[in-house]
Amino acid sequence: MAVFLGSQQQIKQRRLKSARLVGEYEKPWIEGSPYKNRERWDKIILWGCITLGFGVGIALCTLTYFKIPRHEASYCLVMADEFKNLDNWSHEVQIGGFGANSFEWATDDPRNSYIADDGLHLKATLTLDTSDITPDQLLNGYTLNLTAAGTCTSNDTKSTDCVRTSNATTSTIINPVRSARITTKGKKTIRYGRVEVVAKIPPGQWLWPAIWMMPQDSVYGAWPRSGEIDLMEARGNDPAHYLLGSDTIYSTIHWGLDYFTDQSKQTASWYTRQRGSYASGFHTYGMEWTPEYLYIYIDNKLLQSLSVKFGPKTMWERSGLKAPGHPPKDPWSYTKSVSTPFDQDFYLILNVAVGTTGGFFADSVGGKPWVDRGSPAAMMDFWKANATWYPTWDPDGMIVKSAKMWQLGACSSPEI
Ligand SMILES: *[C@@H]1O[C@H](CO)[C@@H](O)[C@H](O)[C@H]1NC(C)=O
Ligand SMILES: *[C@@H]1O[C@H](CO)[C@@H](O)[C@H](O)[C@H]1NC(C)=O
Ligand SMILES: *[C@@H]1O[C@H](CO)[C@@H](O)[C@H](O)[C@H]1NC(C)=O
Ligand SMILES: *[C@@H]1O[C@H](CO)[C@@H](O)[C@H](O)[C@H]1NC(C)=O
Ligand SMILES: *[C@@H]1O[C@H](CO)[C@@H](O)[C@H](O)[C@H]1NC(C)=O
Repeated sequence: MAVFLGSQQQIKQRRLKSARLVGEYEKPWIEGSPYKNRERWDKIILWGCITLGFGVGIALCTLTYFKIPRHEASYCLVMADEFKNLDNWSHEVQIGGFGANSFEWATDDPRNSYIADDGLHLKATLTLDTSDITPDQLLNGYTLNLTAAGTCTSNDTKSTDCVRTSNATTSTIINPVRSARITTKGKKTIRYGRVEVVAKIPPGQWLWPAIWMMPQDSVYGAWPRSGEIDLMEARGNDPAHYLLGSDTIYSTIHWGLDYFTDQSKQTASWYTRQRGSYASGFHTYGMEWTPEYLYIYIDNKLLQSLSVKFGPKTMWERSGLKAPGHPPKDPWSYTKSVSTPFDQDFYLILNVAVGTTGGFFADSVGGKPWVDRGSPAAMMDFWKANATWYPTWDPDGMIVKSAKMWQLGACSSPEI
């Protein structure tokens, strides 16, 4: 740098000849006509166009705004949680992967779910760091029995929800990661209304944060006969290295007779932002749900990640599932409501899952260290690659600032 400056000073300065007009000269643009008149018209046209532009812009915005369906009816605030405690919530504790074969052990351990100044944290940790299980036990000859411990919240005692035994011969390991899942089941539900959750999703490879709803009483039968509403599902993977990572929010409603006839493909959608990631800040994940429609939005009702109109057909007619009288039997149309099964009480769920063999992370995309099908060792393959994913996990986890639910219609008792 110093050398360069020295040599620059040695360059002789050479003035360019001035192109400025010196002395007296005519200034016809000051002296009036015919230019003055033309100038006035220029101004009129310019400002006219600007005004017209603004007018058209405002008109377009207003039109779009009023195109959003709106319910005139009132709402009743059912829950306005700012996470000073978890009184409105319960933990689900189990190790079975919740039907999606996700890898985490869902706990009520305060290291996996805790309240701080900025809200609720749901944080995935390593099992070796946050339990007494040793590295040898993780891999072989250890039985984790949540039924015996009295902590399992699953009623499905026949399944693997509550008990798991590590066995090197069968490549079965104890869940290598722990995390949390909380719900308002039995405490706060709505049947039609509004939900708004303000949250920051967690950066971290193979993390699967979600804000979603399940039916309180499963009036039309087991999943997905009674429906499921997913406001937000995302992958914590860095979008700079992973296609559709934390720059993408998925919103879906599930409905069908079973896993194979789930019609969610008809009512699933996602939104990918142009720049940045949803993991870098707080966003509002919202839903509006009435007997006529259901839509899910991010931050603003204009940015809808999913919009579903109920009717004029029933959901059964929409499903294309046929064969009346045979085993695929119509479980919904008897209600004569086009929104069935989305016409019952739903509760809210917040959770951070880790991995899955259920297809949420596509095989061989982004260096995924396990395969979904035909691999009993998926959880072990995932664990063996811990050096590639654990350092990417944000120590704060998912942060939830607030969760609000409104019931459609006036309050039956005084509003909270
Ligand atoms: C739980 O919900 C009630 C309303 O039903 C609300 O008054 C209370 O503040 C909530 N609890 C927390 C910790 O936010
Ligand atoms: C591991 O699995 C093998 C094969 O199924 C079985 O023979 C063995 O007893 C199991 N070991 C433990 C510790 O359960
Ligand atoms: C787990 O604990 C329950 C209750 O104590 C017991 O009935 C069951 O046999 C245990 N399972 C295993 C695999 O040890
Ligand atoms: C388990 O069964 C009890 C009693 O029937 C019920 O209150 C509870 O909600 C059920 N838990 C789950 C996770 O289904
Ligand atoms: C990652 O897994 C390996 C076994 O594959 C283990 O030796 C290592 O300790 C694990 N890393 C951490 C941070 O636990």
